[in-house]
Amino acid sequence: MMQNLQVEEIPRLNKRILVVDDYPPTRQLIIDALNQAGYYAISEAENGQEALDKCAENHFELVISDVMMPGMGGMELLNRLREVSSDTSIIIITAHPAVELAVSAMKRGAVDFLKKPFNIDDFLLKVHIHLDENARYKKEIKAQSGINEIQIKDKIRELSVHGYIYDSFESIEGDNEYIFNKLVDLSLNVVDGEECALLLFDEEEGLFRPKVIKSHDRKIYESRTIPALKQIFQEVVTKRRALMIHSSEHQEIAPSLICAPLMIRNNIFGILCIRKKINRESFTSKDLSYIINLTKRASLNIENQMLYESIYSNVLDTFRSLVASVQVRDHYTEEHCLRVRDLSAKIAEEMQCSDKEIESLKIAAILHDVGKIAIPDHILLKPGRLTAEEFAVIRTHSEAGEKILRPILLFDQERRIILHHHERWDGKGYPAGLKGEESPFLSRILMVADSFDAMTNTRPYRPAMNLDYACEELRKNRDLQFDGRVVDAFLKQI
Ligand SMILES: [Fe+2]
Repeated sequence: MMQNLQVEEIPRLNKRILVVDDYPPTRQLIIDALNQAGYYAISEAENGQEALDKCAENHFELVISDVMMPGMGGMELLNRLREVSSDTSIIIITAHPAVELAVSAMKRGAVDFLKKPFNIDDFLLKVHIHLDENARYKKEIKAQSGINEIQIKDKIRELSVHGYIYDSFESIEGDNEYIFNKLVDLSLNVVDGEECALLLFDEEEGLFRPKVIKSHDRKIYESRTIPALKQIFQEVVTKRRALMIHSSEHQEIAPSLICAPLMIRNNIFGILCIRKKINRESFTSKDLSYIINLTKRASLNIENQMLYESIYSNVLDTFRSLVASVQVRDHYTEEHCLRVRDLSAKIAEEMQCSDKEIESLKIAAILHDVGKIAIPDHILLKPGRLTAEEFAVIRTHSEAGEKILRPILLFDQERRIILHHHERWDGKGYPAGLKGEESPFLSRILMVADSFDAMTNTRPYRPAMNLDYACEELRKNRDLQFDGRVVDAFLKQI
């Protein structure tokens, strides 16, 4: 189930990529990373000659090649490839990066360079930049007259980077801490910077407090760099816009730095400062536009998240008091839904659900029986066995809960989990009688956690079961009432 979800989230990217390396495990590592990122038209070769042959047969948009290989190495492949295919991009990977080698590779037409062992995210960033949207923009730009090949390549790279920045923040999940770190990492990657810091601005005190610092020496950055640059930070705050400064003399700036504000609704809450391009060149206006784009995207993301969190917690608080009153009527203590929430979360973690899924499940667990508010006292509070008619009324609580939450758009996901929290694996549950995996995965988790907590607590119609007995009941009902895998995950956790 979870695997299915993941596959759905990854777009299939049909760019043809050739991976060239003489060491099979490295080749596999690269291929796996590309597969996971959604690229599937991947071929492999174990040396330059084999790669060249494959390029003669098929067109590849990108070749990723090692340098040192028996027979024809990566640099010769680079030379010869231009004769066969002029518009194939090449990324060179090597364990021994020397500046001269990098420059030489670039001059021969390599589009990028990566040092082994490399970070998979860095690697995918480069691949993405060199591939994504290239084809589309290539066509558009070629249609315009008067632009030469180099300008086209430049433009493609620029558009790809902006596209990448957009995508990165579009799909981002996580708290502000995570977004801050991601912003700094992306900034360094996109403009090839060496040092980057994100500082939060304390308006009252007029202070810049370091939040994320990526530097070879954090202490020096804090004690020397920040005080030396404070005036520039202040200017960014005053001017409310990004600055790019060049200086050959100023030790903390040379040759250039970019500093951009982080704003929410026109209030500056922080700044991002990036220094030193890796190749010791100055930042360009293109770099500046990338950083402005990045900080804007990140700020927007943080703003949305803050807004979302405050609405969410308000609404949830309101419903919590409603749930508390339902539980008291239902002879459960107030802790019932908290225990169901914690048990559900433990199972979900064991089953490697995403943070977002776990969060949804926790909310659904708190609210799962809110529909019981619609059940009359004489049925809900009845101590003995229920008649078939009475039980039919009880069964309406899943749908009633779903209905109560319907006006709250924020609970879109949770509503579905709640609606199906009494479906059984064998299809004999309610309200829809969904069978097996037809019922939402998170509902199946909630079902196990809720049943276990009900079994181990006193109910009006029976005393509490002990823990072992309840576990045995779960085991006995594997693949009958419950999803067997969920039961297994639960038993591992208990
Ligand atoms: Fe229920």
